[in-house]
Amino acid sequence: MNFDLKTLDVRLAAAEKCDQLVVLVGDDFAAGGDPLSRLIAQALKEKDLQAKPGKSLALYRAPGVAARRLLLVGAGSGDARAVRQALAGIAPAWRAPGVKRAVVCLAWQATPEAVSAAVQAVAQGRYVYTLTKPKAEASQLTRVVIGVPEPKEVEQGFETGQAIALGVELAREWGNRPANHATPSMLAAAAKALAKHPNVQCKVMGPAEVERLGMGAFLAVARGSAEPLRFIELRYSGAARGLAPLVLVGKGITFDTGGISIKPAAEMDEMKFDMCGAASVLGVFRALAQLQPAINVVGLIPACENMPDGRAVKPGDVVTSMSGQTIEVLNTDAEGRLVLCDALSYCQRHKPEAVVDVATLTGACVIALGGVRSGLFASDDALGEGLMAAGEASGDLAWRMPLDEEYAEGLKSPFADLGNVGGRPAGSVTAAKFLQAFVGDLPWAHLDIAGTAWKGGAAKGATGRPVALLTHWLLARAEAHAKAPDAKAPARGKGAQRKSRAPRALP
Ligand code: BES
Ligand code: MN
Ligand code: ZN
Repeated sequence: MNFDLKTLDVRLAAAEKCDQLVVLVGDDFAAGGDPLSRLIAQALKEKDLQAKPGKSLALYRAPGVAARRLLLVGAGSGDARAVRQALAGIAPAWRAPGVKRAVVCLAWQATPEAVSAAVQAVAQGRYVYTLTKPKAEASQLTRVVIGVPEPKEVEQGFETGQAIALGVELAREWGNRPANHATPSMLAAAAKALAKHPNVQCKVMGPAEVERLGMGAFLAVARGSAEPLRFIELRYSGAARGLAPLVLVGKGITFDTGGISIKPAAEMDEMKFDMCGAASVLGVFRALAQLQPAINVVGLIPACENMPDGRAVKPGDVVTSMSGQTIEVLNTDAEGRLVLCDALSYCQRHKPEAVVDVATLTGACVIALGGVRSGLFASDDALGEGLMAAGEASGDLAWRMPLDEEYAEGLKSPFADLGNVGGRPAGSVTAAKFLQAFVGDLPWAHLDIAGTAWKGGAAKGATGRPVALLTHWLLARAEAHAKAPDAKAPARGKGAQRKSRAPRALP
């Protein structure tokens, strides 16, 4: 789909030939003398339209308007949040039959962030899953004009919005694909396809190489499946070689049956979404490829299925992770942390500035935070604050969760260095404590997206979160590097949470 940025006010928007014109009407809407402005002023006066986000008024062949369909949409304060909310309310408009060309007019001088939000909202509304449902009516929308009074001022937001939209769409698409259409090998092929973009490279390892690396925890999860595991390594090189990279690690369980500790049948289909962390890493790389910011980023995806089988790992089995730490697999359904811990050990070889893992890790996080905010755990306060701020700026929200050492109590095992579960209380925190045992003193953060990566029920589908949060964060890091080129690592906050014991030296 093509986006264009154009100089428009309400009067000019009325003359735009298109199938759908959307005019966002903010609190401080000032009517000009043109017919459409007068119409809006009248609708506001009669209370047929309110400027609040979530309110809209649809018109057909309105006088003086070239577009067939006209939607007046309340945009409140007109900031990014209000625009996001306003356009979320009219999402179906972008897939309506016959809507090929659309114009969205922000009649005030919107911020770059608001323009970015508008672009993302249109792209989001347009997306239709069709891979295994080819008769689903795909959107016909091919060209969207975003109109503001002064386009120059918002160009950056316009570009960022498009890049994030591409990343979110990629993440949603891979998240939505059924597990038989999104195997570890297929995910690896999707990652390799990203390497056609400038400055993106991709390397894929199979079971033999992963075994050579000593990733006993990852291998244990993959054992029960006939699908071979893949370890995907993406690299984006936008800065000098010497600049320490930021590492993203995405949980890539392409289907989670629970393994021998098998899950109940109800809603098990949703465990095809257990690779949404991986999909979000692919999405972020798509955005990076588009924007080419001056940073280095590494993306790591341990991908496999978690299946029950005669060869599958059993409760009580002890495996040796790449770090050398042994793990008692008390519950084979706590598999995400097993694949992630080896990827976290592996990431040390890149000598990163920081590492962030993204995972649909625990049902407990869904109970704690629902579908509104992702769980954010950070060993380093500057890193935690940076991610939290990126969430607020992008509308892809997170919430800080604790990492007190006491939460690690339950992970003790009489038969190994660690057990892989820590009991029912604070399940998302004990999962994070498990991961923390593999990062040493590297600034590390963990996003538990179990509640936010997809929606269940009638509107079942992947959300593409947290592509927007992570992309915003990386762009902010790039900007910080540009300002202080020597600063390699984020400053440690005074209140940084206590760290767990260091992992053993890597073999
Ligand atoms: N992929 C699941 C987490 C999950 C469950 C996400 C439901 C979204 C909805 C993860 O692998 C898992 O099964 N976690 C277990 C951990 C438990 C055995 C300690 C869980 O949350 O029940
Ligand atoms: Mn599981
Ligand atoms: Zn899982």
